Amino acid sequence: MKYAVTAATGKFGQTAIKTLLKLVDPSQVVAVVRNPQKAQKILPAQVEIRQGDYTQPTQLEAAFAGIERLLFISSLPGGKYPRDRQHLNVVAAAKKAGVKFVAYTSFPHADQATSPLSADHRVTEKALAESGLKTAFLRNNWYLENQADFIKTVLAGQPVYYATGDSQVGWAPEAIYAQAAAKVLVAAKPKNVYEFAGPMHTFAELANAAAEVGGVKADAQAVSKDKYRQILQQQGLQAAADVLLMIQGLIGDGELAHPSKDLEEVLATQLPTLTESIAKVFK
Ligand SMILES: NC(=O)c1ccc[n+]([C@@H]2O[C@H](COP(=O)([O-])OP(=O)(O)OC[C@H]3O[C@@H](n4cnc5c(N)ncnc54)[C@H](OP(=O)(O)O)[C@@H]3O)[C@@H](O)[C@H]2O)c1
Repeated sequence: MKYAVTAATGKFGQTAIKTLLKLVDPSQVVAVVRNPQKAQKILPAQVEIRQGDYTQPTQLEAAFAGIERLLFISSLPGGKYPRDRQHLNVVAAAKKAGVKFVAYTSFPHADQATSPLSADHRVTEKALAESGLKTAFLRNNWYLENQADFIKTVLAGQPVYYATGDSQVGWAPEAIYAQAAAKVLVAAKPKNVYEFAGPMHTFAELANAAAEVGGVKADAQAVSKDKYRQILQQQGLQAAADVLLMIQGLIGDGELAHPSKDLEEVLATQLPTLTESIAKVFK
């Protein structure tokens, strides 16, 4: 049986490939990538590399030939070629190529979520469901690395701000989600939906955990969205302000506040605490 991972040159894809190599014979692992030259430099030598750009339907279909199980890693949002169209190309190509099972990295409760960031995932889940392919939705909560600036600022003993109130987030290191994705890909009886999340915490708790790791005092202030925008402008982050505020908004609305044991069940181990994860990723 051949297993393929799309977007395998990304951070998520590289960890998924490494995990897969420990679970199945290397001759069964295929990396589907936009840029084969880059892939040859960064992926383990025993992995077969095939070109598969999400904007190139014919190329994708050829890349998926003979693949039984596909880990479909969602594309980056905000590009010129709309992400939902990229994803529909992948679904159609998987179907045409005769792929048997697709595990797709999605968004928490994508079928009910209303934030702009969740929209492409809802479209993709629907297309996969309608395709007739056997699927598993890997609804990943938040990568801890998304909060790199916040955590590094706390570690440096500087003040941090957030506009999410007491809403919780299920942060976990990206590598942990990627390991779980590879495990689902090889699972004998995968579930249809996994709500993957780390332990639930607020931004105030994130600041306290980072402060503990850094041996500093946390100075985290809850502010309104207007104040948050002002702070971003003062920091010269005008260009990113809309996206950052959208994300603070979806967290404030509770879109990531979904506790779940799926991640530790698939990994068959206790998850690291938030403090342990910060120490591992940022120290
Ligand atoms: N839940 C969360 O907290 C969270 C946070 C961030 C991202 N995400 C999602 O997780 C995904 C993986 O994250 P990551 O850290 O691995 O991102 P990354 O390191 O930036 O890698 C992105 C990958 O997508 C590939 N890609 C981009 N456009 C493509 C296209 N048109 N066709 C084929 N491949 C394309 C890139 O290929 P190249 O190497 O050729 O550029 C790269 O392999 C993201 O794309 C996003 O959907 C989720």
